[in-house]
Amino acid sequence: MDNILMFKQYFDFWRKKNTGKIKEAEVERLINEVDRKKLPRHIAIIMDGNGRWALRRGMSRSYGHRAGVESLRDIVKVCSELKVKILTVYAFSTENWKRPREEVDILMDLLVEYFNREIEELNKNRVRVNPIGRLHELPPATLEALKMGAERTRGNDGLILNVAFNYGGRQEIVDTVRAVVADVLSGKLSAADIEERAISERLYTAGQPDPDLLIRPAGDFRISNFLLWQLAYTEFWISPVMWPDFRRIDLINAILEFQRRERRFGGLK
Ligand code: IPE
Ligand code: IPE
Ligand code: MG
Repeated sequence: MDNILMFKQYFDFWRKKNTGKIKEAEVERLINEVDRKKLPRHIAIIMDGNGRWALRRGMSRSYGHRAGVESLRDIVKVCSELKVKILTVYAFSTENWKRPREEVDILMDLLVEYFNREIEELNKNRVRVNPIGRLHELPPATLEALKMGAERTRGNDGLILNVAFNYGGRQEIVDTVRAVVADVLSGKLSAADIEERAISERLYTAGQPDPDLLIRPAGDFRISNFLLWQLAYTEFWISPVMWPDFRRIDLINAILEFQRRERRFGGLK
């Protein structure tokens, strides 16, 4: 069994390495087509499809989650290089607790592993980590890793990486309403001043522009409780590519498509 596992892992490695070579020239060509003046300031990604990707290979879902971390590493790097300002990645939803205990445990552990392994690279790329979600409900080691990631990258002035972990859009709105009510009760805010701004200033993403581009790999056409408030006028790009296969070429293609879109925000062009 171990031999089969090793063979499959080696095969994946080999496939990536070689398709990588062919793709490199194509990436270069496409990257030159990107209009640097019209880059999305904020990109949000629902990192989906890890489980299906792995099961199709006869592997466990956790193998898929592990492979997904490599995609995250690649996408963070290319967003930094392109000087995208904000990247929000959906890593664990408030609904993902419904999954079997072992899978949840693996996802919690992977996050810790990610920060331990990536912290230097993140700093090298001047990435600032900003965890968002109901963090206080997380197991201590996971919470620690998120805090450590934020703490050790706090001074960086590059890409802001919002890591949505135990994140739910509705829960965020509930937390925001609670904050608004608390401020009204304490007299900091008058009820008459509750406008859009009073809400957006109290979201987990306070101070950040809304996403310009939402990417969902793995082909499903739904939001799955992600950034419900912030996505009001975001451009959606759904890709059939599973997250563990998602690489810089896919991101560049998404950006190129975004640049061809006409955004009207309810007005006329
Ligand atoms: C995304 O991949 C990772 C998380 C939700 C944590 P999935 O695990 O949802 O993979 P699929 O959608 O079942 O293929
Ligand atoms: C969304 O994916 C959450 C993350 C990628 C973290 P899900 O796999 O949980 O979404 P559904 O269940 O297919 O809507
Ligand atoms: Mg999924």
